[in-house]
Amino acid sequence: MTAALLDGKAFAGKLRGRIAARVAEMAAQGIVPGLAVVLVGEDPASQVYVRSKARQTVECGMRSFEHRLPAETSEAALLGLIARLNADPQVHGILVQLPLPAHLDADLVINAIAPEKDVDGFHISNAGKLATGQRAMVPCTPLGCLMMLRDHLGDLSGKSAVVVGRSNIVGKPMAQLLLRESCTVTVAHSRTADLADTCRRADILVAAVGRPQMIPGAWVKPGATVIDVGINRIPPPGTGEGKTRLVGDVDFASAVEVAGAITPVPGGVGPMTIACLLANTLTACARIHDLPDPADLTA
Ligand code: GUN
Repeated sequence: MTAALLDGKAFAGKLRGRIAARVAEMAAQGIVPGLAVVLVGEDPASQVYVRSKARQTVECGMRSFEHRLPAETSEAALLGLIARLNADPQVHGILVQLPLPAHLDADLVINAIAPEKDVDGFHISNAGKLATGQRAMVPCTPLGCLMMLRDHLGDLSGKSAVVVGRSNIVGKPMAQLLLRESCTVTVAHSRTADLADTCRRADILVAAVGRPQMIPGAWVKPGATVIDVGINRIPPPGTGEGKTRLVGDVDFASAVEVAGAITPVPGGVGPMTIACLLANTLTACARIHDLPDPADLTA
């Protein structure tokens, strides 16, 4: 039996439609949500993401402010820009694209963003609120994963969830969200001694390690729901000549034969990340203006 495919592209398209409708309602009251994206340097993958974020922001009816800075930008200059964006009433969300060039302290920069405008949910205050069950900005990729899981499985309570990867961007907040849903959560990583056995216990397996095709179908519990967050570019098989292709952290060909449901790469989790960023920008705008919280959009 082959697994059901969880279509993140279609899911994200529907979410963007609902966001655009709310943005139009807000615009009728004279309020237009605005998202500022800051890119330092010329990392090619980051440039693609930032372009995509700006385009989708405008398509949803929001304002987009792009700030592209040279790789040698000083920390003081970057902090100065963030201070101006924090004070700008047209800006409701601020995203500093990661990774930053090595001479910049990412923690310092992220924690300079006003927490209420931190649409990535990376600020220490939002991370702490999420971990302690308070109302927070929730990181976009884990939020998108959770929405897809809830849509497919309904109630997640009591399920065994294994998150492979412990990053601040995905692994740790994903574990917090699953715990909030009353899952029994294990956070595994590249040093976990019995990784195969640990994965095999998962009703919900979230792969976010950044290693191409690292998790084979033999590590998947029959019928499990597999969420593949990995986006890895690899050379074509054989000689390595020709076009590169995108693969996840899960070996899709073998996992699809065992899992109950799985997100493909591309077209699974990826499109949900930007849709959730737009949802967070709308949420930030509503909170800043004391409007009803649009939490139902991502519920
Ligand atoms: N780089 C890779 N993913 C992300 C993300 O979700 N937010 C930011 N700011 N940078 C990233």
